[in-house]
Amino acid sequence: MKLNINWREFGIQILKAIWPVIAGALTGATVVTAPGCTSRAIKQVVAAQPQNRLVRHCFTCKERPEMLRYPQLHHMQEALMTRRDFITNTTAGLAAAALGGCVQTLANSRRFDDTLSVLISDTHVHADSYQRERLTRVVDEILRLDPLPRRVFCFGDIAFLRGPLEDYQAGRPVFQRLRDAGIELIFGMGNHDRREAFGEVWGDCQPKSLVPGHWVSETNLGPCDLVMLDTLHEPDTPEAHTRGWITDGQLKGVQREWLDAELKRRTRPFFLCAHHPLDEITDGDWKAIKDGLMASACIGWIHGHDHAWKHRLIAPTKRRWGDNNFKRSLCLPSTGHWGDIGYVTFRVSAHEARASYCAMDHYFPTPDKRTPMDADLLEEKRNAFMTFRF
Ligand SMILES: [Fe+2]
Repeated sequence: MKLNINWREFGIQILKAIWPVIAGALTGATVVTAPGCTSRAIKQVVAAQPQNRLVRHCFTCKERPEMLRYPQLHHMQEALMTRRDFITNTTAGLAAAALGGCVQTLANSRRFDDTLSVLISDTHVHADSYQRERLTRVVDEILRLDPLPRRVFCFGDIAFLRGPLEDYQAGRPVFQRLRDAGIELIFGMGNHDRREAFGEVWGDCQPKSLVPGHWVSETNLGPCDLVMLDTLHEPDTPEAHTRGWITDGQLKGVQREWLDAELKRRTRPFFLCAHHPLDEITDGDWKAIKDGLMASACIGWIHGHDHAWKHRLIAPTKRRWGDNNFKRSLCLPSTGHWGDIGYVTFRVSAHEARASYCAMDHYFPTPDKRTPMDADLLEEKRNAFMTFRF
């Protein structure tokens, strides 16, 4: 049998595999890189971060080049490798190159990308229903990401319907896998949640709330912040509790005062996030909130509730034709209750954030009842993304 070898390609692959060793020797850094990543770009990163001993660039991911345009955002401390790991990976790279493949050499190492978060919503977990298994599938997918996201935000409706303790207990082992992998997990409250039951199960892990009596948090994403509001309008009476689980959002009282002050105070770009869409904050004058948002350093509004990947423009309430002062809002899919099913990766660089929909399914009302339209909706939104600029 005659082997047909493309010697030119073979040589290129060998060079690509060994040049990190050479670059590492020249720069004093431990360099692990990949085809498509130029030595000049690597040197720029090393120059910008001389204290770091490792520069990483994904073999295949098309999103990574922007990291090299903004090397100061490339957090590398978390990704430090031992010399032994480096040699192992480089050897694996050489072997892969010899086989003619552009193979991810870092596949077995669990490293984090500080610029990457995952956004999920509307898990609606119940011990005896399909939603927990669907959430498990999403968690499996997240844990397969390489590098791992630094954090996962869950935008509420964690519980199935009325927020009993058992729902949170049923969901905890699934979510806990993210925490066990070292991923930070931050929750928001949805209309199907109840603050006290949530606190009993998750209070020890959730960031300390910035607003008393609510679950409000702030997370530093590097160039910007993410503020998770608590728009849950919890029923006031036991009778209302049994039927009051499809409610509009609420932002008033102490949380509204806090928010108004924050909108004026903040100079760093920040996202406002909540379970509800902005125009469903019916208890708290959503138009006034919107105008405050439009005049602030807020980048945009991200929410769940509608179980759909979709985005819209936000404009000031009083707007003349031709004004182009817009911000954007994004709605997230559910992890498995109904509607668009999947998760969203959220990558932040110096002046933009890219949200990408990882579509896994579509059904309504349940996975065992499907129509051809479900397949259409899944296909039409596959690979959807949107960009927030700031
Ligand atoms: Fe929901």
